[in-house]
Amino acid sequence: MPMTSLNINGKSIDAKLGETLLDVAERGGLALQCDCGNITCESTRVTVVSGEVEANGTRLKSTVLACKATVAGDAEIKLPASSELQSLKGHVSAIRQVSDDLIELRLSFTKPISWRPGQYYHVEFRGQERVNMFASFALDAGTEFNTLIFLIERANTPDLFAMIVKKGDVKGRVGITGPYGSSFLGHDDERLIMIAGPNSLAPIWAMALSSVMGQPRREKVLILDKSLKQDQFQQVFNWLNRRGLQPTFVDLQGKNAETELKALLPDLTEFDMVYTAGSHGFIAGLEGIFVEAQATYARIPNFQPWHELEAQPDDASALEPA
Ligand code: FES
Repeated sequence: MPMTSLNINGKSIDAKLGETLLDVAERGGLALQCDCGNITCESTRVTVVSGEVEANGTRLKSTVLACKATVAGDAEIKLPASSELQSLKGHVSAIRQVSDDLIELRLSFTKPISWRPGQYYHVEFRGQERVNMFASFALDAGTEFNTLIFLIERANTPDLFAMIVKKGDVKGRVGITGPYGSSFLGHDDERLIMIAGPNSLAPIWAMALSSVMGQPRREKVLILDKSLKQDQFQQVFNWLNRRGLQPTFVDLQGKNAETELKALLPDLTEFDMVYTAGSHGFIAGLEGIFVEAQATYARIPNFQPWHELEAQPDDASALEPA
């Protein structure tokens, strides 16, 4: 097979034409988390600084998914500055059932936990299948040292939700691995636009809170699907309102979603950074606007129950840019 070389994060690595960027990075000893293996998790998104790669349908502006994109010649690639994966055992330190459909869960560990808003963990409770959940903050914005907080929605993880409600207090040990995901909040200057679809508030709440606290001067826009206007999240909205970030609720699932979003963002440009959280279909339905405006955008796909994904074999192709 013809050979070439990739420069990845400043390191030159021999590469064969046609092999995936992920294989080259791993051979060069560079860590890149590959989670799903089927282009649904967005964990391996890397930036093509120069040169050419075969994106195989995964290109978003200058980025591609390294698990799918292949070597097409010399190229320079930049990996995201991500936290190291940790595999830890912890325990449930608090459970609060907020409503019939939402639980706030705290897991405590003996070591510090490091994650960025927009990232998720594999979480394994005894006797339960592994689930993927976005790290977030409590609804009152509180947090504790060595603690991970998850918002468990019945719609996202019905079996886990039912198990916790049934047992009342789950005191068993819990294993986590993570954080995964490359669509995390960066320290950029661009206007920050955060959009959440149905059952996908957790990562956007984490991002909104972190940006309010850590990036006070950055211009921010928060747009939520109208299905999220629920009493169970009122504390979140109050907290954000008090700090000057007012969510706008709009129907982002209807046939006029693009028009409505455009009306809210008439001045969208390449200097905007957009994060969209939701199902694959939800994200794909809004992306045309960002492509047209050449805004930088990141996908935060939620984890539909696997049977739903299996029922939608074409779902992954819906992610390919038009
Ligand atoms: S491992 Fe490539 S997108 Fe999930």
